Amino acid sequence: MRHLIDPIDLTRKETDEIVALAQDIIANREAYAHKMAGKKLATLFYEPSTRTRLSFTAAMMELGGNVLGFSDAASSSVSKGETVEDTVRVVGCFADIIAMRHHVEGAQLNATSVSPVPIINAGDGGHSHPTQTLTDLLTIKRELGHLEGITIGFCGDLLYGRTVHSLIKALSRYEGTRIVLISPDELRLPDYIKHDICDKNGIPYVETSSLEEVIGELDILYMTRVQKERFADVAEYERVKDCFVLDAERMKGAKQKMAVLHPLPRVNEIAADVDADPRAAYFRQVENGKFVRMALICRLMEWRGEPMPVRHEPVELAGKRCPNPKCICNNEKVAYKFYISDAGVERCLYCDCTAV
Ligand code: CP
Repeated sequence: MRHLIDPIDLTRKETDEIVALAQDIIANREAYAHKMAGKKLATLFYEPSTRTRLSFTAAMMELGGNVLGFSDAASSSVSKGETVEDTVRVVGCFADIIAMRHHVEGAQLNATSVSPVPIINAGDGGHSHPTQTLTDLLTIKRELGHLEGITIGFCGDLLYGRTVHSLIKALSRYEGTRIVLISPDELRLPDYIKHDICDKNGIPYVETSSLEEVIGELDILYMTRVQKERFADVAEYERVKDCFVLDAERMKGAKQKMAVLHPLPRVNEIAADVDADPRAAYFRQVENGKFVRMALICRLMEWRGEPMPVRHEPVELAGKRCPNPKCICNNEKVAYKFYISDAGVERCLYCDCTAV
Protein backbone atom coordinates (compact mmCIF):
# COMPACT_ATOMS: atom_id res chain seq x y z
CA MET A 1 0.00 0.00 0.00
CA ARG A 2 1.26 3.48 -0.82
CA HIS A 3 1.72 6.03 2.00
CA LEU A 4 3.27 9.50 1.96
CA ILE A 5 5.78 9.83 4.79
CA ASP A 6 8.62 11.69 3.09
CA PRO A 7 8.68 13.76 -0.13
CA ILE A 8 10.95 11.16 -1.73
CA ASP A 9 8.25 8.51 -1.34
CA LEU A 10 6.95 10.14 -4.53
CA THR A 11 8.97 10.08 -7.73
CA ARG A 12 9.60 13.38 -9.45
CA LYS A 13 7.00 12.33 -12.08
CA GLU A 14 4.39 11.51 -9.42
CA THR A 15 5.09 14.81 -7.67
CA ASP A 16 4.58 16.73 -10.91
CA GLU A 17 1.37 14.79 -11.59
CA ILE A 18 -0.05 15.68 -8.16
CA VAL A 19 0.79 19.36 -8.71
CA ALA A 20 -0.82 19.19 -12.17
CA LEU A 21 -3.90 17.44 -10.74
CA ALA A 22 -4.23 20.18 -8.12
CA GLN A 23 -4.16 22.75 -10.92
CA ASP A 24 -6.88 20.82 -12.75
CA ILE A 25 -8.96 20.72 -9.54
CA ILE A 26 -8.60 24.52 -9.25
CA ALA A 27 -9.83 24.92 -12.84
CA ASN A 28 -12.64 22.31 -12.61
CA ARG A 29 -13.90 22.24 -9.02
CA GLU A 30 -17.29 20.67 -9.86
CA ALA A 31 -15.71 17.69 -11.61
CA TYR A 32 -14.13 16.56 -8.32
CA ALA A 33 -17.06 17.25 -6.01
CA HIS A 34 -18.02 13.56 -5.59
CA LYS A 35 -14.67 11.79 -6.09
CA MET A 36 -14.52 10.65 -2.45
CA ALA A 37 -18.24 10.14 -1.86
CA GLY A 38 -18.72 7.43 0.77
CA LYS A 39 -15.06 7.60 1.89
CA LYS A 40 -13.71 8.79 5.25
CA LEU A 41 -10.49 10.59 6.16
CA ALA A 42 -9.23 10.36 9.76
CA THR A 43 -7.17 13.31 11.00
CA LEU A 44 -5.04 12.22 13.99
CA PHE A 45 -3.27 15.32 15.30
CA TYR A 46 -1.04 14.79 18.33
CA GLU A 47 0.40 18.29 17.89
CA PRO A 48 -1.34 21.67 17.28
CA SER A 49 -2.27 22.70 13.74
CA THR A 50 -4.52 25.17 12.00
CA ARG A 51 -3.70 24.97 8.27
CA THR A 52 -2.76 21.34 7.83
CA ARG A 53 -5.65 19.80 9.76
CA LEU A 54 -8.30 22.18 8.46
CA SER A 55 -7.05 22.02 4.87
CA PHE A 56 -7.19 18.21 5.00
CA THR A 57 -10.71 18.50 6.39
CA ALA A 58 -11.77 21.02 3.75
CA ALA A 59 -10.09 18.94 1.02
CA MET A 60 -12.01 15.77 1.93
CA MET A 61 -15.26 17.70 2.24
CA GLU A 62 -14.76 19.31 -1.18
CA LEU A 63 -14.24 15.82 -2.61
CA GLY A 64 -17.60 14.74 -1.19
CA GLY A 65 -16.10 12.59 1.59
CA ASN A 66 -16.37 12.70 5.37
CA VAL A 67 -13.86 13.38 8.14
CA LEU A 68 -13.37 12.05 11.66
CA GLY A 69 -10.51 12.27 14.14
CA PHE A 70 -9.02 14.22 17.00
CA SER A 71 -7.08 17.45 17.30
CA ASP A 72 -6.01 16.91 20.89
CA ALA A 73 -4.50 13.54 21.75
CA ALA A 74 -5.42 14.13 25.43
CA SER A 75 -9.05 13.51 24.48
CA SER A 76 -8.23 10.13 22.90
CA SER A 77 -7.11 6.83 24.44
CA VAL A 78 -3.51 7.96 23.92
CA SER A 79 -3.97 9.56 27.36
CA LYS A 80 -4.48 6.01 28.73
CA GLY A 81 -1.20 4.85 27.23
CA GLU A 82 -2.30 3.55 23.82
CA THR A 83 0.56 3.35 21.33
CA VAL A 84 0.54 5.05 17.93
CA GLU A 85 0.57 1.60 16.31
CA ASP A 86 -2.54 0.42 18.16
CA THR A 87 -4.31 3.73 17.49
CA VAL A 88 -3.67 3.36 13.76
CA ARG A 89 -4.86 -0.28 13.75
CA VAL A 90 -8.10 0.87 15.41
CA VAL A 91 -8.69 3.97 13.28
CA GLY A 92 -8.04 1.90 10.15
CA CYS A 93 -11.26 0.01 11.04
CA PHE A 94 -13.23 3.26 10.71
CA ALA A 95 -11.48 5.30 8.02
CA ASP A 96 -10.21 4.79 4.46
CA ILE A 97 -7.16 7.04 4.79
CA ILE A 98 -5.31 8.70 7.70
CA ALA A 99 -3.54 12.07 7.97
CA MET A 100 -1.38 12.14 11.10
CA ARG A 101 0.74 14.79 12.80
CA HIS A 102 2.98 13.72 15.67
CA HIS A 103 5.69 15.41 17.74
CA VAL A 104 7.76 12.20 17.69
CA GLU A 105 9.98 11.86 14.62
CA GLY A 106 9.36 8.71 12.60
CA ALA A 107 6.02 7.97 14.33
CA GLN A 108 4.16 7.83 11.02
CA LEU A 109 6.78 5.69 9.29
CA ASN A 110 6.57 3.18 12.11
CA ALA A 111 2.75 3.21 11.94
CA THR A 112 2.80 2.21 8.25
CA SER A 113 3.99 -1.26 9.31
CA VAL A 114 0.59 -2.03 10.86
CA SER A 115 -1.83 0.32 9.10
CA PRO A 116 -4.63 -1.22 7.03
CA VAL A 117 -5.09 2.11 5.18
CA PRO A 118 -2.79 4.74 3.59
CA ILE A 119 -1.07 7.11 6.03
CA ILE A 120 -0.13 10.68 5.17
CA ASN A 121 2.55 12.33 7.30
CA ALA A 122 1.14 15.72 8.29
CA GLY A 123 4.39 16.62 10.11
CA ASP A 124 6.64 14.53 12.38
CA GLY A 125 8.49 16.66 14.92
CA GLY A 126 11.30 18.70 13.35
CA HIS A 127 11.86 16.07 10.67
CA SER A 128 9.53 16.14 7.67
CA HIS A 129 6.30 17.68 6.34
CA PRO A 130 5.69 16.33 2.82
CA THR A 131 2.20 17.79 2.25
CA GLN A 132 3.55 21.27 3.02
CA THR A 133 6.13 20.52 0.33
CA LEU A 134 3.43 19.73 -2.22
CA THR A 135 1.73 22.97 -1.17
CA ASP A 136 4.98 24.88 -1.65
CA LEU A 137 5.65 23.34 -5.07
CA LEU A 138 2.16 24.22 -6.28
CA THR A 139 2.62 27.76 -4.95
CA ILE A 140 5.99 28.22 -6.66
CA LYS A 141 4.51 26.85 -9.91
CA ARG A 142 1.59 29.25 -9.73
CA GLU A 143 3.69 32.26 -8.69
CA LEU A 144 6.63 31.82 -11.08
CA GLY A 145 5.12 29.56 -13.75
CA HIS A 146 7.88 26.92 -13.42
CA LEU A 147 9.82 24.83 -10.91
CA GLU A 148 13.16 24.62 -12.70
CA GLY A 149 16.08 27.00 -12.50
CA ILE A 150 14.99 28.79 -9.33
CA THR A 151 17.18 30.39 -6.69
CA ILE A 152 15.44 29.94 -3.35
CA GLY A 153 16.48 31.44 -0.04
CA PHE A 154 15.47 29.64 3.17
CA CYS A 155 15.52 32.05 6.08
CA GLY A 156 15.24 31.50 9.85
CA ASP A 157 15.11 28.17 11.66
CA LEU A 158 16.68 25.73 9.23
CA LEU A 159 17.64 23.26 11.96
CA TYR A 160 14.17 22.37 13.23
CA GLY A 161 12.19 23.58 10.19
CA ARG A 162 10.67 20.37 8.84
CA THR A 163 9.10 22.24 5.93
CA VAL A 164 12.57 23.40 4.84
CA HIS A 165 14.02 19.88 5.00
CA SER A 166 11.19 18.44 2.93
CA LEU A 167 11.15 21.20 0.31
CA ILE A 168 14.91 20.95 -0.24
CA LYS A 169 14.51 17.20 -0.83
CA ALA A 170 11.84 17.85 -3.44
CA LEU A 171 13.57 20.78 -5.18
CA SER A 172 16.84 18.86 -5.41
CA ARG A 173 15.20 16.90 -8.25
CA TYR A 174 14.62 19.98 -10.40
CA GLU A 175 17.19 21.19 -12.91
CA GLY A 176 18.98 24.42 -11.98
CA THR A 177 17.86 24.70 -8.34
CA ARG A 178 20.19 26.94 -6.31
CA ILE A 179 19.81 27.23 -2.54
CA VAL A 180 20.72 30.09 -0.22
CA LEU A 181 20.62 29.19 3.48
CA ILE A 182 20.07 32.22 5.71
CA SER A 183 20.22 31.49 9.44
CA PRO A 184 22.12 32.15 12.65
CA ASP A 185 24.89 29.63 13.35
CA GLU A 186 22.74 27.88 15.99
CA LEU A 187 19.95 27.12 13.50
CA ARG A 188 21.85 25.87 10.45
CA LEU A 189 20.52 23.15 8.17
CA PRO A 190 21.26 19.58 9.40
CA ASP A 191 24.28 17.95 7.77
CA TYR A 192 22.27 15.06 6.36
CA ILE A 193 20.30 17.45 4.15
CA LYS A 194 23.44 19.25 2.98
CA HIS A 195 25.41 16.09 2.23
CA ASP A 196 22.86 13.41 1.37
CA ILE A 197 20.51 15.68 -0.55
CA CYS A 198 22.30 18.78 -1.88
CA ASP A 199 25.77 17.34 -2.48
CA LYS A 200 24.42 14.05 -3.80
CA ASN A 201 22.22 15.81 -6.34
CA GLY A 202 24.79 18.45 -7.26
CA ILE A 203 22.63 21.26 -5.88
CA PRO A 204 24.76 24.33 -5.10
CA TYR A 205 24.12 25.98 -1.73
CA VAL A 206 25.64 28.83 0.22
CA GLU A 207 25.24 29.66 3.93
CA THR A 208 24.97 33.21 5.23
CA SER A 209 23.65 35.09 8.22
CA SER A 210 22.71 38.21 6.22
CA LEU A 211 19.33 38.42 4.47
CA GLU A 212 20.13 41.91 3.10
CA GLU A 213 23.21 40.65 1.24
CA VAL A 214 21.35 37.95 -0.70
CA ILE A 215 17.72 39.05 -1.04
CA GLY A 216 18.33 40.60 -4.47
CA GLU A 217 19.40 37.21 -5.94
CA LEU A 218 16.28 35.29 -4.95
CA ASP A 219 13.29 34.11 -6.99
CA ILE A 220 11.67 32.70 -3.85
CA LEU A 221 12.21 33.79 -0.26
CA TYR A 222 11.01 31.07 2.09
CA MET A 223 10.65 32.57 5.57
CA THR A 224 10.27 30.34 8.64
CA ARG A 225 9.32 30.73 12.28
CA VAL A 226 11.90 29.97 14.97
CA GLN A 227 10.23 26.95 16.55
CA LYS A 228 10.05 27.52 20.29
CA GLU A 229 8.53 24.09 20.89
CA ARG A 230 11.64 22.29 19.56
CA PHE A 231 14.18 24.01 21.88
CA ALA A 232 15.34 22.17 25.01
CA ASP A 233 16.79 25.46 26.33
CA VAL A 234 14.36 28.44 26.44
CA ALA A 235 17.27 30.89 26.87
CA GLU A 236 18.68 29.77 23.54
CA TYR A 237 15.27 30.32 21.89
CA GLU A 238 15.11 33.84 23.37
CA ARG A 239 18.55 34.61 21.95
CA VAL A 240 17.67 33.69 18.36
CA LYS A 241 13.90 34.14 18.13
CA ASP A 242 13.93 37.50 16.30
CA CYS A 243 17.06 36.90 14.25
CA PHE A 244 15.37 37.84 10.94
CA VAL A 245 12.45 40.16 10.34
CA LEU A 246 11.29 40.77 6.78
CA ASP A 247 9.63 44.16 6.42
CA ALA A 248 8.66 46.56 3.64
CA GLU A 249 12.05 48.28 3.81
CA ARG A 250 13.96 45.02 3.26
CA MET A 251 11.58 44.07 0.42
CA LYS A 252 12.93 47.07 -1.53
CA GLY A 253 16.10 45.06 -2.19
CA ALA A 254 14.21 42.11 -3.73
CA LYS A 255 13.41 41.35 -7.39
CA GLN A 256 10.06 42.63 -8.63
CA LYS A 257 9.06 39.02 -9.45
CA MET A 258 10.29 37.41 -6.22
CA ALA A 259 7.62 35.58 -4.19
CA VAL A 260 7.64 35.39 -0.39
CA LEU A 261 6.49 32.03 1.00
CA HIS A 262 6.01 31.00 4.62
CA PRO A 263 4.41 27.77 5.84
CA LEU A 264 2.85 29.82 8.68
CA PRO A 265 2.07 30.43 11.48
CA ARG A 266 4.31 33.51 11.61
CA VAL A 267 5.30 35.25 14.80
CA ASN A 268 7.60 38.27 14.20
CA GLU A 269 9.54 37.18 11.14
CA ILE A 270 7.30 38.89 8.57
CA ALA A 271 6.04 42.35 9.47
CA ALA A 272 2.43 43.17 8.66
CA ASP A 273 3.59 45.89 6.26
CA VAL A 274 4.66 43.16 3.80
CA ASP A 275 1.16 41.65 3.56
CA ALA A 276 -0.12 44.10 0.95
CA ASP A 277 2.94 43.63 -1.28
CA PRO A 278 1.88 41.61 -4.37
CA ARG A 279 4.99 39.45 -3.83
CA ALA A 280 3.64 38.24 -0.46
CA ALA A 281 2.33 34.80 -1.50
CA TYR A 282 1.89 33.20 1.93
CA PHE A 283 -1.89 33.47 2.14
CA ARG A 284 -2.29 32.25 -1.44
CA GLN A 285 0.01 29.39 -0.36
CA VAL A 286 -2.48 28.43 2.38
CA GLU A 287 -5.30 27.99 -0.14
CA ASN A 288 -3.05 25.98 -2.45
CA GLY A 289 -2.64 23.56 0.47
CA LYS A 290 -6.26 22.53 0.23
CA PHE A 291 -6.13 21.86 -3.52
CA VAL A 292 -2.92 19.87 -3.39
CA ARG A 293 -4.26 17.76 -0.51
CA MET A 294 -7.38 17.05 -2.59
CA ALA A 295 -5.08 15.83 -5.36
CA LEU A 296 -3.00 13.74 -2.95
CA ILE A 297 -6.03 12.05 -1.38
CA CYS A 298 -7.32 11.11 -4.86
CA ARG A 299 -3.95 9.66 -5.88
CA LEU A 300 -3.32 7.67 -2.68
CA MET A 301 -6.80 6.17 -2.88
CA GLU A 302 -6.10 5.11 -6.48
CA TRP A 303 -2.72 3.62 -5.48
CA ARG A 304 -4.00 1.51 -2.56
CA GLY A 305 -3.24 -1.78 -4.32
CA GLU A 306 0.34 -0.78 -5.12
CA PRO A 307 3.33 -1.67 -2.92
CA MET A 308 5.14 1.06 -0.98
CA PRO A 309 8.45 1.88 -2.73
CA VAL A 310 11.54 1.13 -0.63
CA ARG A 311 13.13 4.50 0.13
CA HIS A 312 16.17 3.10 1.94
CA GLU A 313 17.16 -0.56 2.31
CA PRO A 314 17.11 -1.22 6.10
CA VAL A 315 20.25 -2.69 7.68
CA GLU A 316 20.93 -4.08 11.15
CA LEU A 317 23.83 -2.49 13.01
CA ALA A 318 24.55 -4.50 16.13
CA GLY A 319 25.36 -2.31 19.13
CA LYS A 320 24.40 0.93 17.38
CA ARG A 321 21.57 3.25 18.44
CA CYS A 322 19.82 6.41 17.31
CA PRO A 323 20.93 9.33 19.53
CA ASN A 324 17.79 11.43 18.88
CA PRO A 325 15.59 11.59 22.02
CA LYS A 326 12.69 12.76 19.82
CA CYS A 327 12.84 9.67 17.55
CA ILE A 328 10.12 7.02 17.72
CA CYS A 329 12.70 4.32 18.52
CA ASN A 330 13.56 6.17 21.74
CA ASN A 331 9.91 6.82 22.68
CA GLU A 332 7.99 3.60 22.00
CA LYS A 333 9.03 -0.06 21.92
CA VAL A 334 10.40 0.18 18.39
CA ALA A 335 13.62 -1.61 17.40
CA TYR A 336 16.43 0.52 16.00
CA LYS A 337 16.63 0.36 12.21
CA PHE A 338 19.28 1.99 10.06
CA TYR A 339 20.30 2.57 6.48
CA ILE A 340 23.59 3.47 4.84
CA SER A 341 23.40 6.81 3.05
CA ASP A 342 24.92 7.35 -0.39
CA ALA A 343 27.78 9.12 1.39
CA GLY A 344 28.35 5.91 3.42
CA VAL A 345 26.94 7.32 6.69
CA GLU A 346 24.95 5.05 9.03
CA ARG A 347 21.61 6.77 9.61
CA CYS A 348 18.43 6.08 11.58
CA LEU A 349 15.68 4.88 9.24
CA TYR A 350 13.06 6.88 11.16
CA CYS A 351 14.68 10.30 11.69
CA ASP A 352 17.89 10.28 9.55
CA CYS A 353 20.13 11.00 12.57
CA THR A 354 23.63 9.55 12.41
CA ALA A 355 23.88 6.28 14.35
CA VAL A 356 26.17 6.15 17.39
N1 CP B 1 2.02 25.02 7.75
C1 CP B 1 1.57 24.31 8.79
O1 CP B 1 1.94 23.15 8.99
O2 CP B 1 0.68 24.99 9.59
P1 CP B 1 -0.10 24.35 10.82
O3 CP B 1 0.92 24.04 11.87
O4 CP B 1 -1.09 25.38 11.25
O5 CP B 1 -0.75 23.08 10.34
